[in-house]
Amino acid sequence: MTEHRLIRNLRSSQAWRSVFRIGIPQSSRDRIAVILSSVFLHLHPPRVSAASIRIRRTYCMGGLAFLAFLILTITGLLLMFYYRPTPERAYGDIEDLAHVVPFGSFLRNLHRWSAHGMVLLVIAHMVRVFHAGAYRPPREFNWVVGVLLLALTLFLSFTGYLLPWDQLAYWAVTVGTNMAAAAPIFGHEGPFALVSEDADVRALLLGDRVVGAGALLRFYVLHCVVVPFVMVLLLAVHFYRVRRDGGVAARY
Ligand code: HEM
Repeated sequence: MTEHRLIRNLRSSQAWRSVFRIGIPQSSRDRIAVILSSVFLHLHPPRVSAASIRIRRTYCMGGLAFLAFLILTITGLLLMFYYRPTPERAYGDIEDLAHVVPFGSFLRNLHRWSAHGMVLLVIAHMVRVFHAGAYRPPREFNWVVGVLLLALTLFLSFTGYLLPWDQLAYWAVTVGTNMAAAAPIFGHEGPFALVSEDADVRALLLGDRVVGAGALLRFYVLHCVVVPFVMVLLLAVHFYRVRRDGGVAARY
């Protein structure tokens, strides 16, 4: 009895009502008002068709890709406390994380596996969206935003690959950036090259002609600051558009 009264008093308090303005919804109209007055819930359109919220419609691939992104952000921030992006320190810091820092190996593996998972989930999400025909109007703009998100997800993986500064990382990035040097127009070895060896896309990535201290620093800043920042902006646009386009496409 006292428990009920406590809950009733809490619900009628000024503090509670300032957060939950509508209270328990009694009608469809109230339900719409609840969605529209909450910063979190209003990401969903006020009306969605029952068909579009079935798990089989999306398999929650986009949501799971976003969950992987959140795990990567949190574990990445924690890894930044231990990792120094210089050729003298980088490899040793990763070894320390694996063998000395408490839970360091768990942290690093969680980051690595979430990164692999995110790439797979984003591709699966794209296949699902394609199969649903959700690239068609009015969702064509969101499809383009998605393509940018896919490119950035792959670029995040690529920039992260150099950071352990071991042989695998060094030579993989050497191969990858040499491929960039062979790109059309912007690579000095590519067809219709417009730029010199010191000003092409490889030089832009490495800050040099070979993988060295400059490249490690550039990849670190791109991996930890620039790409995640741009991704957060694009994700906000992506989610906003899902809502504005009427939620997940209902019909195939
Ligand atoms: C970081 C990567 C991405 C995240 C976190 C993400 C997240 C989401 C979420 C949560 C949804 C709503 C529910 C769902 O469909 O699962 C969605 C919808 C959508 N996404 Fe993505 N997405 C990403 C990448 C992509 C890519 C690569 C494409 C396509 C090239 C894409 C195109 C779309 C489209 C067109 C919709 C609307 C689907 C519909 O109305 O049925 N997204 N996204």
